[in-house]
Amino acid sequence: MKGIVLAGGSGTRLRPLTKVVNKQLLPVYDKPLVYYPIETLLSGGIRDILIISGPEHSGDLLNQLGSGKDFGARFTYDIQEKPEGLAQALGMAEDFSDGEPVTMILGDNIYTADIGPALRNFSPPGAKVFLKEVPDPERFGVPVLNGDRITNIIEKPKKPPSNYCVTGLYMYDHDVFDIIRTLKPSARGEYEITDVNNVYIERGQLRYEVVPGEWIDAGTFDSLLRASTVIAQLRQKS
Ligand code: G1P
Repeated sequence: MKGIVLAGGSGTRLRPLTKVVNKQLLPVYDKPLVYYPIETLLSGGIRDILIISGPEHSGDLLNQLGSGKDFGARFTYDIQEKPEGLAQALGMAEDFSDGEPVTMILGDNIYTADIGPALRNFSPPGAKVFLKEVPDPERFGVPVLNGDRITNIIEKPKKPPSNYCVTGLYMYDHDVFDIIRTLKPSARGEYEITDVNNVYIERGQLRYEVVPGEWIDAGTFDSLLRASTVIAQLRQKS
C-alpha cells in the first residue's frame, strides 16, 4: 500500500493566513496541519508517501517535512501544475504507486480516532471511502445510502440525500488509474474524485466505513480553530 497526501490548494477561505503560507503548514495546536493526515497514514502502516502540492509551496513543504526520516517514513514530492481536481492529482501517482493499491488523504483533514485498523483491513479489488455524519453535508460529496450500500455520491448537492459526507480519505486498487483516464472535467472544471467513486459504485466495488471520533476539514477559520481546541483537549486527557 502506498500513500498520497494532497497538500495543494490556494486556501482562499483562509486569507490572509494563506497569502504567504501553505494552508497545510498552518499551526494546529502544536504541529503544522499536514502532520495529522501524515500520522493517519502512518497509523495504517503506510510509510511510502507521495506529497503533492502546487508549485508555490512545494519548497516550503519539503523544508518542513524533509525525507520522511523523522517520521520513520519515506517521502516523495511532486507538483500539480494547475489545480484541476483531486482525481487529476491522484492520477499523478501512477508511476509512484508501482502497481500497488493506494490510500489518498487530503492534507487538511484531521481524524482524531485511530483509524489504522480500518486502513489495514482494506484489500483489493475495489475501493473504500470513509463517511461522517455532518450538520452541513451540502458542502461535501454526499452518499445516497441504501442499507449497507452506497448507491450514488453527489458532489455538493443543494438537497443532500443523507446527513453523511464522504471525508477526504480514499483507498483504491490499481484500476483507479485507468478510471481516471476516462474522466471528463465537471462543471467547476475539475476532475472529481466523486466521479471516480461513482465508477466503483457501478462496479459494485465501493465499500465504506463510518469514521469514529472527530473528523475536521480544517479549511475555514472556524474549523481550523476547532481543530486546535479538539487536539489540545485530547492531549490534556492523554
Ligand atoms: C472534496 C471532495 C468532496 C469531499 C471533500 C472532503 O471537496 O470533492 O467530495 O467531501 O473534499 O473534504 P473540495 O475540498 O474539493 O471542495
